[in-house]
Amino acid sequence: MRITCLGAGYVGGPTMAMIAAQCPDIQVTVVDHNASRIAAWNSDRLPVYEPGLDEVVRAARGRNLHFHTDVEHAIRSGDVIFVCVGTPTKTSGVGAGRAADLRYIERAARTIAEVSEGPKIVVEKSTIPVKTAEALLTILRSNSRHGDFQVLSNPEFLAEGTAVADLRDPERILIGGERTPAGEAAMATLADIYARWVPRERILTTNLWSSELSKLVANAFLAQRISSINSISALCEATGADVGEVADAIGRDSRIGPKFLRASVGFGGSCFRKDILNLVYLCEHFGLPEVAEYWERVVRMNDWQKDRFTRMIVSTLFNTVSEKRIAVLGFAFKKDTNDTRDSPAIAVVRGLLEENATVAVYDPKVPAEAIRLEVLGPGGTDARLVVAASAAEAAAGAHALAVLTEWDEFRSLDFAAIHAGMHKPACVFDGRNILPRSELERIGYRVFSIGKPASA
Ligand code: NAD
Ligand code: UGA
Repeated sequence: MRITCLGAGYVGGPTMAMIAAQCPDIQVTVVDHNASRIAAWNSDRLPVYEPGLDEVVRAARGRNLHFHTDVEHAIRSGDVIFVCVGTPTKTSGVGAGRAADLRYIERAARTIAEVSEGPKIVVEKSTIPVKTAEALLTILRSNSRHGDFQVLSNPEFLAEGTAVADLRDPERILIGGERTPAGEAAMATLADIYARWVPRERILTTNLWSSELSKLVANAFLAQRISSINSISALCEATGADVGEVADAIGRDSRIGPKFLRASVGFGGSCFRKDILNLVYLCEHFGLPEVAEYWERVVRMNDWQKDRFTRMIVSTLFNTVSEKRIAVLGFAFKKDTNDTRDSPAIAVVRGLLEENATVAVYDPKVPAEAIRLEVLGPGGTDARLVVAASAAEAAAGAHALAVLTEWDEFRSLDFAAIHAGMHKPACVFDGRNILPRSELERIGYRVFSIGKPASA
């Protein structure tokens, strides 16, 4: 058995590393056109930061885990081909701003069809609109010499920052396939791979469309919980209720549950926004405008929350941050990842720059170039955007601190020393509700936390 994976990104790399680590007898080859990404996977500095990933990759790399740029050769030699390419939101044409851009998926399918010399099981691991498998099957079966393909949907549910734990001990593996003897056999082949380390009862098989749709719906429900609690955070600030206490009180109802109720500056990451907008587009396409509008509200509430946080900073600092220095602690979209895609920090930093502030950003894992690229775009320059090497450096001479990522190191900073170097009154805007609030107030900070009453 040989596995090939197209796409060495946040999903392809870690997922294949786990399969290789768990199945030493299966040769796993991950290919990508991006030569520098492949070089990084073959180096000591992996392109993806995830706790525990180095160890998993080191255990299998060179034994049965390989990273290459020769896409065609890897397709020819693979029995099972995972497609883990990106599916960003379209930026132009029909459905721009909502629909998924399927160009990488289609290109991958055409290459598989052209170079395959024998039967293949093609596994959609990328998140795609429901019914994409139909298009894939048509491309594969009408563009190849033998036409012997099965397409399976096997969406990935890992979250960044906990990818290794999620892959090692997943709550469920979802496999969708054609309900034909050949489709059932393909599903069984894939299920047998996962069953090497995942209990059988966690491996679900469904029809193709249920599997494809479940992925979008899972992300929509998760994001909806965050927008729900964030909407309540605004009401808490207005009334004196504490959003943490409200979340705890409602989360103890087992029908609601405690997870994903952390109020924040907003959700980020490469998928929630894109997948909900994709769902919205599908609903519109299938003539369901009310359903589309319902889900679009989740994204709109998130945009409002990011904007509300920026406005909170400006209004607190006497309605002007012009020529004031704001230290932004954290730029990744969540802790324990170097991923900045759609991070709420991007909107907040841009908003502050528009108000003519100097913004000093510190993040423990995101490189300075990535921060500048996200905020200013390719080649952009702005002397008011400073990237600092530590939280203390960012805070030196600042009027306010804004915590945008819940990195553990921010919980235990030397706040007294930082306070000494700041303009007074020194303010803290805790966009993640992680700071020791009463200690900060004792030192003399004015503290503003999402969903909590402000300091006097
Ligand atoms: P990514 O952008 O990090 O990686 C995609 C890679 O695919 C890129 O390196 C690109 O060069 C490569 N690629 C594109 N076309 C190719 C081709 N024809 N052959 C070989 N390589 C090709 O994206 P990602 O974050 O890994 O996400 C991939 C998919 O997984 C998306 O659909 C995403 O929605 C989904 N997903 C992501 C996550 C996550 O946590 N990032 C979780 C679950 C699902
Ligand atoms: C999310 C899902 O959790 C995964 O199951 C899914 O596979 C993945 O999207 C995907 O399809 O890409 P991810 O975006 O990596 O994973 O991380 P999450 O832990 O879901 O966090 C997303 C965002 O929501 C982060 O910005 C996080 O800070 C924020 N969040 C999360 C909150 O603001 N409050 C919460 O209670 C939880």
